[in-house]
Order: sequence, then structure tokens, then C-alpha cells
Amino acid sequence: MSQIQGVEAPCSLRKLPSASKRSQNQAAFALAAILAGAVAATQRGNDKVKMNRCGECIGVLAGLFLAFAALPAGVAQAPKVQASPLPKIVEKDGRSALLVDGAPYLMLGVQANNSSAWPEYLGKVWPAAETLHANTVELPVYWEQFEPVEGQFDFSSVDLILQQARAHHLRLVLLWFGTWKNGSAHYTPEWIKLDQAKYPLLLNRDGQTVDSPSIFAPAWLDADKSAFRALMRHLKAADPQRTVLLVQVENEAGVWGAVRDYSLAAEKAFAGEVPERLVKGLGKQPGTWRKVFGEDADEIFQAWFTASYIEQVAEAGKAEYALPLYVNAALREPFNPGKPPSYESGAPTDNELDLWKIAAPSISVVAPDIYLPEYNKYSKVIDLYRRKDNPLLIPETGNPAEYARYVYEAIGQGAIGWSPFGLDLTRYSDQAGAPGAMEADALQPFARQYALLGPIARQLAQGNFEGKVRGASEEPENHTQTLAFARWKAVLQYGMPSFGDGMKPKGNSPADGGVVILELGPDEFLVAGHHVRVDFAPASAPGKKRYWMKVEEGSYDAAGKWTTARLWNGDQTDYGLNLKADENVLLRVRLTTY
Ligand code: DGJ
Repeated sequence: MSQIQGVEAPCSLRKLPSASKRSQNQAAFALAAILAGAVAATQRGNDKVKMNRCGECIGVLAGLFLAFAALPAGVAQAPKVQASPLPKIVEKDGRSALLVDGAPYLMLGVQANNSSAWPEYLGKVWPAAETLHANTVELPVYWEQFEPVEGQFDFSSVDLILQQARAHHLRLVLLWFGTWKNGSAHYTPEWIKLDQAKYPLLLNRDGQTVDSPSIFAPAWLDADKSAFRALMRHLKAADPQRTVLLVQVENEAGVWGAVRDYSLAAEKAFAGEVPERLVKGLGKQPGTWRKVFGEDADEIFQAWFTASYIEQVAEAGKAEYALPLYVNAALREPFNPGKPPSYESGAPTDNELDLWKIAAPSISVVAPDIYLPEYNKYSKVIDLYRRKDNPLLIPETGNPAEYARYVYEAIGQGAIGWSPFGLDLTRYSDQAGAPGAMEADALQPFARQYALLGPIARQLAQGNFEGKVRGASEEPENHTQTLAFARWKAVLQYGMPSFGDGMKPKGNSPADGGVVILELGPDEFLVAGHHVRVDFAPASAPGKKRYWMKVEEGSYDAAGKWTTARLWNGDQTDYGLNLKADENVLLRVRLTTY
């Protein structure tokens, strides 16, 4: 349970208290947050002395809090917050970075379950993020909550999320559950659901209604644009701290159960010419959809109108507040994709990436939701979505333990962010074959990786932007991998003992190893990983062998200053650097040859 759950949520805009009362509440909230932090710190501390000291400190803070809350309205003014630089995504030499507070940031994220972003349930989100050592939480904004009455916006949930994320020192990615959520319009407000003449659902080829919006009716776009604009305008005013780093526009847009819309308006559009921008962008000859795209015309038609709709929503929001925006994709199988509707049609699937780039320039990233546990599929999806014009962001990935190792692969391929889905304490499980409830233990495999990587997240993001990071996750079928650097190659072996060599690696069971390596200099590396043996060999010095100069185990502080705890040598280096599954070890390695 969050320590600040008991603090009253700000009420909706229509019932807001006076400005002075509001700022008093905000200041009281800030103190409550400090108090919450102190309580959390006490809980984390494991020695008695710390507990006692914190107990005293809580007493003082509690006194302060009560005194402050008792101040008359108007006296307690929240200090004016200096605006931080806007988060932005930048590209250089084919590599990307998400700049946060002006420097590259690696999002070690977690997405809450779909129904966890309600005030009463946020207390089950933050402690999970803290256990995970995540630095960013992804939370939905529900259209049905945000605009319960047409034209009247309720910012209370968004404000509470902002306040609580800050109190927990977490950044946010907000997910706009607008026109689409997994291809359907389930998060639309009642006034939309009840007016299906104005906001119709899509018709399939047989004229049957499908559970997906028919976006050829113009009212859909007008309504979504107006709501998204209001959200972004509010964020601009409410978040000078830039707690929110990115906004996802819609959720897995597209249609399940039909290849395209066959409503009258859609049929009329389908009979027309393919827009010139798409024809030119894809290097095609002009003509009707069928003529230009043949048997793929239906899917491409649906993709174009879905992407163009999202572009208009994104553009309207961005005009209010220019945060980086992205869309997420329900994937098709990367090797044998079949045809829609076996996958979500009109979605940003890998075959439609070029189209989405042409149709939606306000969207900075088309991001894959990777729920494919097999190594070859996972890495293939990364290959498909990581492009010069498309930074790699994995905003959702599976939460079974086997996915935890993929954080290394993602970082090694230059990801700006990675986030398992559905890890909160609501006990909901999205795994079809698993028991109904997901328990807190499910966080541990991910927590282990983030605890190791969190303290070096900024270094990794900066290194990635400069092309100096490599990483890999264990492949079950192949127990040796190599990572190439300018003067060295790193050799990774899985399933080796920590003493002795000359044996063949047999792999870990289950395959849970992985490592990232940051090149600090031509002969110097930072190594972080689990359940893997790491060694180095000269990349191009025939007859020469690796000679350990120095292997330092240590840590970075918050300011990025390194402290050495000990040097590894003897048994600890004679058989390579053996990183255990359950220990967080950072090594700085200097190499020479003999
Ligand atoms: C992908 C969706 O984007 C999420 O909102 C959620 O429904 C997950 N699937 C469940 O696995």
C-alpha cells in the first residue's frame, strides 16, 4: 500500500476548491510526500539504528506537516517550479537518444495493469515500481474518466498521478486510451458509446458490426482531437518539472476481426485514388487502392486512414505541448506473419512501418509491444523496428521471468526504453496459461536486472548515443555469443562454472543470462550482467592474447562518480569474469595483450 494513499485526491475541475485552498493542499501534499518517503526509507532500512533515527525524523516531519496543514488559506504558497528542458528525442549518425533534463536517459520502465490508474489503486503501482527499481512508470489516461461529459474535462486523476509519481521520484509515460484500446473503442465515454449513429462501429465485408471504431465518421476525430488537446494543454501547465517524458497516442490502434472498414463512407474512400503523398512516398504509380496495392489494398487502406487519424490527433496535441509522442504496435509473427485478420489490420505492424512514417510525422516512434518469448522472434522484432528513422522503444513486453533477460538485448540494440507490462500489486495476471493472480514474487526477475542497471542507466544512454554499448541476452540454442568493439571482442559463455576452463558451455536452464558492456576507452570497459561468463580477445592482433590489466569491482554514485570496492584477480579472473545470477556486480575492466 502506498504511504500517500490516504491523502485526499484533488476533486474534479467542476468542483475545484479556491486557488489558495488548492495551493495549501498542494503544499500539504508535498509534506505528506516527504513523510511518505521517510516512511518508505525506514521500511527499506534494515538496521535498527537507522530505524530509530528515521523514527525521530518522522516525528519531526509529522509535526511540521500538521503545523503546515493548519496554516490559514493563502499563507502556504507552493514554490514556483523552474521549468526543466522539454524531453525530446534526438538522432545522430543513425543512433537515437531520449533527452531528459538535457541528457540521454534510459527508461527502465514498468507498465501498470490496464485498470490500475484509478486513485484508489495507484497505491498498488508505486511500491511495485520501487521494488523493481524502475525509473519510469507507464500509466493510462482513460478517456471515459477524463471527459465524462462532452466538453468537460476532469484533470483530477492526471494531477494525482503527477503528484504521486514525483513523491516517489519516478518519471511517467502517459498512455492515451482514446479512440482505440487494443483495436476497440472500449475506453470512450458513455456519451460516445450511446450515440452510435454519430460514433459508429466498423462494418466488415458481410455488413456485420465489428467491435472497432469506424473512423470514416468525422465525429470520432473531432472528439478525440478535442480531448487529447485538452490533455496536452493541461500537462503543459501542470508539469514544468517534466515528470511526463512521453505520451502514447491511443493503444494498439487497428482492427481485429476484419481487414478493413466496409461502411458506406469507407467504401467511397476505397473507390477513390490513393493519396499522392502515399503513392510518392512508397514509390508507386498513381491509381485506386486496388490498382496500386492489389491484394494488400484492404490492409494498406485501413493502415493509411488509421495512421492519418492518429497523426491529426497527435498534431493537435503537440501544438499545445511538444512532448515526444509514440504509438505502440500489436505485432504480427515476424517470420510467418500470414495475412490479416490473423493479426491486427491497419496497425503499425512491421510491413506498414514505411506507411506509418509517411502518414504520421508527428509520431516520433512506432514502438513494438513484444509478447514473443522466443529469442529468435524477440531479436527479429527488434531488428524490424530499430531503424534510423525509428528509435527503438519497447513500451510493453511480457512479464513471465523468461522476458527479464531481454533488457540486455534491448539496451545492446540501442533502446531508449524498455518496459514489462502488468507488474503492479493488484494481483491481476495477463498470462492466459497461469494461475489467476500474479503475486509480488513475479517482480523479482525484473527487479534483479533493474537494480544492477539503474545506477548506470545514464551512462548506458549516453554510451548508446555514441555507439559504445553492446549487449546480449542468452539464446537457449547457442551458448556462446560475441560482441564486437573496435579493438576487442567480448566472448560470452552461458552455463559455465566460476572455476576452471576447457569445458564447453552448456547454457543455463532456464536461459536467463545476459550482459551489457560499455566501451569507456579503447581498452577499457564497464561490464554489467547476470549468469554469464565474460572474457575478451583482441579483435585484430594475431598471436596476441588478452592480459587483464585491472579488473575493478565497484559502484557509481548518483553523480556518476566511481568508487572501487576491490580488485578481481586470481581465481576471480583466471577463468573469465563469472557473473552470478543472483549478484549485482559492476566491473570496470582494463585490458592489454601479451
Ligand atoms: C497489450 C495491450 O497494449 C495492453 O494494454 C494489455 O492489454 C496487454 N496487451 C495484455 O497482455
